[in-house]
Amino acid sequence: MTAREWLEKARREKFAIGAFNVGNLETFKAIVQAAVSQKSPVIIESSPGETAWMEAENIVDLARNYSEEYGIPILVNLDHAESLEQCIEGIKAGYDLIHFDGSKFILEDNLEIAKKVVELAHQGGLVVEGEIDHITGSSEVYTGSAQGEIAKGKFTDPNQAKEFVQSSGVDIFAAFFGNVHGVFTGGGENLRLDILEKLAESLPSIYFSLHGGSGIPDDQVQEAIKKGIVKVNVNTEIRQAFKEGLQEALDENPNEYAMYKILPEAIEEIQKIVEHKIEVFGSAGKL
Ligand code: 13P
Repeated sequence: MTAREWLEKARREKFAIGAFNVGNLETFKAIVQAAVSQKSPVIIESSPGETAWMEAENIVDLARNYSEEYGIPILVNLDHAESLEQCIEGIKAGYDLIHFDGSKFILEDNLEIAKKVVELAHQGGLVVEGEIDHITGSSEVYTGSAQGEIAKGKFTDPNQAKEFVQSSGVDIFAAFFGNVHGVFTGGGENLRLDILEKLAESLPSIYFSLHGGSGIPDDQVQEAIKKGIVKVNVNTEIRQAFKEGLQEALDENPNEYAMYKILPEAIEEIQKIVEHKIEVFGSAGKL
């Protein structure tokens, strides 16, 4: 099934597909193992930094190899690409979905680039995601509440979103309605579900993504899925699990030098997180 067909199935059956970021092979393995054990479709994604580190072709090849080995669908998403050049790199490398994040541009420039990305990506049958309002926060563990980061952003206006989606032709829309990036020790990641509801009303045929999937309480994510979210992006909780799992394994085995003996503990920690997210998103057993 293509990315579009999976998104359509998710919308019809009211579940969301997890889009999990990869920055190394161990994270890749953990996500794949979680998808296999949960019998779930999965999206592997790479931010600009992760793409530069792992290289686009390697990410696509790993996804295709694992997909064949385990017989599960693994879609590949270019996450938060910030220029036409980055999008073209992803298209050429064989990604299935391209997220052009033009939120740092003025709206007209964002629209102009988005149109070009849509034209090129659609020729190859790829799916394109657009964004107009910067999703605040970053992949960090913040001390305190999310309210400060949320206040730095501008919630998406349904009318502006409608205009952008209709003129650009994007397939997926990344809205900002309280879904900040990162994990906040003081909580406070409260989604404005009323805004999502208005967006879904004004754009009934678009697919909606939920960025900032780390740290948002499970019940809120599930409410958002009921209101139309079909793709949930998760990064920080995965990075946190990797770092903590690795740290623990290194502390426990001071005389071990074979990294393939140390890293399974980090993989296990990530796998637990991804399995839980898959359950929350309702995509378990959907293969
Ligand atoms: P988190 O780091 O908050 O999970 O957000 C990830 C994300 O939205 C990637 O696009």
